[in-house]
Amino acid sequence: MSIVQMNLGENSYSIHIQKGILDCVAEQIKTLYKGDRVAVVTDRNVDGLYGKALKDQLEESFEVLWIPLPPGESSKSIRHYGHVLEQLADHHIQRSDLVIAFGGGVIGDLTGFAAATYLRGIDYIQIPTTLLSQVDSSVGGKTAINLPQGKNLVGAFYQPKAVLIDPNTLSTLPKRELLSGLGEVIKYACIDAQEVRHILDQMSDLTDIHRYAEDLILHCCQSKQRFVEVDPLDKGKRMILNFGHTLGHGFEAESNYEMSHGKAVVMGMLAMAKLSKEQGWGQSQVVEHLEKWTGKFGYAIEEEAIPFKAIQTYLMNDKKVNQNKVNLIIVESMGQATIRPLAVDTFNQLLTGRRLP
Ligand code: NAD
Ligand code: GLY
Repeated sequence: MSIVQMNLGENSYSIHIQKGILDCVAEQIKTLYKGDRVAVVTDRNVDGLYGKALKDQLEESFEVLWIPLPPGESSKSIRHYGHVLEQLADHHIQRSDLVIAFGGGVIGDLTGFAAATYLRGIDYIQIPTTLLSQVDSSVGGKTAINLPQGKNLVGAFYQPKAVLIDPNTLSTLPKRELLSGLGEVIKYACIDAQEVRHILDQMSDLTDIHRYAEDLILHCCQSKQRFVEVDPLDKGKRMILNFGHTLGHGFEAESNYEMSHGKAVVMGMLAMAKLSKEQGWGQSQVVEHLEKWTGKFGYAIEEEAIPFKAIQTYLMNDKKVNQNKVNLIIVESMGQATIRPLAVDTFNQLLTGRRLP
C-alpha cells in the first residue's frame, strides 16, 4: 500500500492507495472510526457495480444508511444536496457518526459539502472510484454543488478524515471517463510532477493506464499535496492546479457539459500553452508534450476546435476572474508553472479571432 500523508494541522489525513483495498475497506475504516453507524452516499452506476460488496462488508461492523443518487453532474444540485441532508436527518445521523462518499467527483463534491454543513460538520471519508476523483477531486477538501447560474458556485473547504483509493475500480470505467481523469494527470505532468511525465511517456496508449494506475495516482496525489499543504484555501500557489481550467470551463459549458471535465481541461491547457509560446511566456516544449500525449491517448482535439468568441462569455463567470483581472496559469517549462494576473480585456484581445485550442 502507498500512503500519502496530508499535513494540514488539525485537518491532517492519510490517502491510502492499494489495488484491492475495497475488499477490506471496512477493516481500514474501523482503524479510523470508532462509532457504529455510517451513511454511504453513492451513485447508481457505482452502486450496481460495487455497492453490494461494500454494503455487505460494512454491515458486518456498522449500522449502514445507504443513499444512492442518479449518476452524473445533475446530482451536484441543491435538490440532491437537500435529499442527502434529509436522509441523514430522517435517520437521526449524529455528529459522532460517519459519512462515506463512494463514487466519482460528483459524489465526492456533493457528499463533502453535505458533510461540511450537516449539523455544522460531520466527519466523512472519500472512497473515489473514477480516475479523476482518485488523482484530484477526492484530495484537498474542495466540496461543492452547482447552481443553474454556474458550476461549483456553492461550497466549502472541508477536508475528509481519510481517502481510500482502489485503482482496481478503474477496470470498469468507460473510455470517456478514463480520458477525463487522464486530463488531470496530464495537468500534474505539466505543472509539477516529473515522475508523472515519465510514466505518460512510457505508456503506449490509454489501455496502459491499468498497468501504471497505482504509481500515477500516487505521484498525482503527492503533487496535489505539495500545492494544498502550502495553500489549503486556494489563495495563492494552489491556483496553479487550475492550469487549463479557465478556458476549459468555457469548452465544457459551451458543449452543454457533453464534453467531459478532463477533456475540456486538456483543450484549455493546449490553448494556454500555444498562447504562452507566442507571447514568450512559456517554452515550445510545453505545446510539444501536450500534442504528443493528446495524440497518443486519442483525445480527438481537432474535431472540437471552436472560435474563442463561442466561449468568451463564460470567462467573466469564472471564479478566477477578480476585479477585471484573470489569474492565468502559465507553464514556463515542463514542471515549472506560475500565476500571471492579466487584465481581462487584454486576455480577450489576445484571443479574439482565434480558433481554440
Ligand atoms: P462522475 O462522478 O460523474 O463520474 C463519471 C461517471 O463514471 C459517472 O457516470 C459514474 O456513475 C461513473 N463511474 C464512477 N465510478 C465508476 C467505476 N469505477 N466504473 C464505472 N463507472 C463509474 O465524474 P468525475 O469525472 O469523477 O468527477 C467530475 C466532478 O468532479 C465534476 O463535478 C467536477 O467539478 C468535480 N471536480 C472536483 C474537484 C475538487 O477538487 N473537488 C477537482 C476536479 C473535478
Ligand atoms: N482541483 C483544483 C484544486 O483542488 O484546487
